Amino acid sequence: MPGRPEQSFEREDFAWLVVMSLVFFALVAIALWREYATPWRPWQRQFKLTLAHAGRFDDARKFHLGIRQIWNPELGLVDRCVSCHLGFEWGGILPATLPQPLTPHPAPAFMAHHPFERFGCTTCHAGQGWATTAYGAHEGGEGWEEPMLSKQLAESCGLSEGELIQMRCNYCHRRDVSTDGMDSINLAKKLIKKKKCLICHTIEGQGGHTAPDLTYEGDKNPELFDFSHVTGPKTVFNWHVEHFISAGKIAPGTAMPDFNLPPEQARALALLMLSWRRINYPPQYIPQPAAQSAPSPAPTASAPQTASPAH
Ligand code: HEC
Ligand code: HEC
Ligand code: HEC
Ligand code: HEC
Repeated sequence: MPGRPEQSFEREDFAWLVVMSLVFFALVAIALWREYATPWRPWQRQFKLTLAHAGRFDDARKFHLGIRQIWNPELGLVDRCVSCHLGFEWGGILPATLPQPLTPHPAPAFMAHHPFERFGCTTCHAGQGWATTAYGAHEGGEGWEEPMLSKQLAESCGLSEGELIQMRCNYCHRRDVSTDGMDSINLAKKLIKKKKCLICHTIEGQGGHTAPDLTYEGDKNPELFDFSHVTGPKTVFNWHVEHFISAGKIAPGTAMPDFNLPPEQARALALLMLSWRRINYPPQYIPQPAAQSAPSPAPTASAPQTASPAH
């Protein structure tokens, strides 16, 4: 029977064809699902509608859905926060009452000095810039050590979100004596002088040598802190707070005085300690201190910068 083998070949071919098409359709379906089920897409659709509602029909039409990011190689940042946080630059046009993540960014005067296209978002807020899910961006995955400075994290430190963010502001503004928008840090910088920390501690090459150098205190590994006498949350932030209230309680036998600071001052100093880190931003991102202001708490520290042959 010569016809039979051919027939069965045909049948096999047909079966293969069916299987391969099913696989193909499955792959297309998965690809489409992955393309459309991205967490930022619903926000972008909503934002397009929001623009139209606000009468910005042109902008709505020109708004194309897709991943958005602020990329600044000088700071090494790729901030995709703006894939969801779409209203940030629309203050004055879109209502401030829009729900997050579409809300226009609050615009205190200092924001004008930090254009979004250069500073991105994570320079002030921390978080994981390249993540495209809210969880990844806000909380980070495992082993992530720079979670976003959220309201929640701030509350757990007894601070407002704005106060907590000042820690990041001071990565760059460290050498300012005082900076608008940084009240807690400004207070802490005053306390450094008032309480004469430099009698014992070295800060940026100035001061005494009977106590640890505090220049990069914010980089100190949490594992190097002794939490055994800490009564509140066992966080580095709280270690500092309790240490500033009573150094003797946290480090029994220490030569550091019990300052008995009110909690607000202790928290401000703790923020300042955590802000003192090695930062490798290029110099154009580090504000130059005004001529009359000392770059470090020690009065003598301003000498190299301000001493001029004319005086
Ligand atoms: C996938 C979308 C998405 C991405 C990406 C995203 N966010 Fe959000 N964000 C949201 C949503 C939704 C909310 C409001 C609900 C909430 O608080 O989680 C929010 C809220 C916030 C808030 C206010 C809430 C708080 O606790 O302070 C801040 C600040 C914020 N985001 C910053 C960021 C930053 C910085 C990034 C980038 C590192 C980022 N977000 C990336 C969706 C996103
Ligand atoms: C120069 C520092 C700075 C930069 C850069 C910056 N922010 Fe902010 N942002 C702040 C401060 C300060 C606040 C006010 C916090 C407060 O006092 O409630 C704030 C508030 C917010 C809030 C509202 C938080 C809330 O709980 O209501 C969101 C959301 C937010 N920023 C997102 C962003 C995004 C997205 C970007 C990038 C496009 C960005 N920010 C860039 C400093 C900054
Ligand atoms: C990545 C570094 C960086 C961060 C983070 C940063 N700033 Fe600045 N800031 C600058 C630079 C650089 C300038 C000077 C810009 C200019 O020449 O106008 C500046 C200028 C300012 C000014 C204008 C007056 C002055 O001192 O020059 C204020 C006020 C200010 N920043 C406040 C803040 C606050 C508040 C935060 C945190 C919410 C913050 N900055 C975060 C780099 C930074
Ligand atoms: C009389 C000397 C003295 C003065 C004044 C003093 N300290 Fe200390 N400080 C010490 C000694 C000694 C230690 C190490 C033992 C300990 O942890 O208390 C220390 C530890 C610290 C630590 C922990 C450092 C680390 O990495 O373990 C911080 C932070 C600190 N001091 C900040 C300050 C600040 C800020 C001031 C001013 C408000 C101040 N100190 C004033 C003597 C002093």
